Amino acid sequence: MLNKKSVDDINVNGKRVLCRCDFNVPLDGDRITDETRLVAALPTIKKLIADGGKVILCSHLGKPKGPDATFSLAPVAKRLSELLGQEVKFAADDTVVGDNARAAVADMKNGDVILLENTRFRPEETKNGEAFSKDLASICDVFVNDAFGTAHRSHASNVGISEAMKAEGKQAAAGYLLEKEIKFLGNAVDSPKHPFVAILGGAKVSDKIGVINHLLGKADKVIVGGGMTYTFYAAKGIKIGNSLVEKDKIELAKEIMEKAGDKLVLPVDNVCAKEFNNDAPSEVVEGDIPDGYMALDIGPKSVELFEDTLKDAKTVVWNGPMGVFEMSNFAKGTLEVGKFLGTLSDATTIVGGGDSTAAVQQLGVADKLTHISTGGGASLEYLEGKTLPGIAAVSDK
Ligand code: 3PG
Repeated sequence: MLNKKSVDDINVNGKRVLCRCDFNVPLDGDRITDETRLVAALPTIKKLIADGGKVILCSHLGKPKGPDATFSLAPVAKRLSELLGQEVKFAADDTVVGDNARAAVADMKNGDVILLENTRFRPEETKNGEAFSKDLASICDVFVNDAFGTAHRSHASNVGISEAMKAEGKQAAAGYLLEKEIKFLGNAVDSPKHPFVAILGGAKVSDKIGVINHLLGKADKVIVGGGMTYTFYAAKGIKIGNSLVEKDKIELAKEIMEKAGDKLVLPVDNVCAKEFNNDAPSEVVEGDIPDGYMALDIGPKSVELFEDTLKDAKTVVWNGPMGVFEMSNFAKGTLEVGKFLGTLSDATTIVGGGDSTAAVQQLGVADKLTHISTGGGASLEYLEGKTLPGIAAVSDK
């Protein structure tokens, strides 16, 4: 449980509430191509409106180097208005909290909603600079942090503002999305129902070493798939052909395997091709991968082995795809694992991490799983057992 103040513990009636969301959504021009993060933010926004707050939303978007119209949050204000069924006024302002934004805030009535411009238009944002935190604190009476996806960053609009509010004797509370993410990810990692199985995929051992180590200490089985498999193969002396490998991590992979013993479950067969191309002819190979071939997905016997490992699980955490799921001919392993998780009616199944979230959504299995995290880096760091600064900064209960 999150021992932090929540939106249920604060009174926002007639008050200016600044609510930090993670509206860092993919855009094609000004069209939002995945609005999961907007939909996930609605419960908190609706609660603040219903409680009579003057709701000032803020977020970052992308990685602009300063004010840059391509990274404006204007399209988000437009779509949020539609999703909420009420106007979300966009406070266009290159300094985020300049005259225009201040005038918009001064004009607000209870239950109104405005959205500030991209917080990364201010250079202090990513440096957690005090001047920006203080500017943000100056336009609100209460702060709510609902930006789980940004919780691993120590930035002015999540950490600095929380500290500024607390220093002034004001509240910094957690929103419903933040609470929900911690409930699922936290319970899974800290008090899982056993058997607890982790599925870890993705290209590089180096990206996942923290989470492998942390979850080896918690889970009953750790399934490894995806590109990092072949660094483990190399460590076992299995031939890998032209498959992805991190040569400088082979020793580390050996150490992990020694530590893990039979907890670690690796693929036993792979779908291999001569080229990194969806149309390249492919074949299923067991054991050694021949010269000139690269593994691009796990094979059917691996899927069977993984299903067998997962069938009695009560808690499953999945981070990282099993193969090159972006290419339809090499998406089957990821899809089969996702589909199988959807049949585990007795288990809590949680997906965390940007690439695995994209995979389950793209492959259409997301709605059968218990919780799909809105965090990429944030859920990965959480699964590594790290303290997320954005959450730590919120007022304690
Ligand atoms: C994310 O998409 O993971 C978060 O919004 C954080 O974005 P960032 O990696 O640009 O800090």
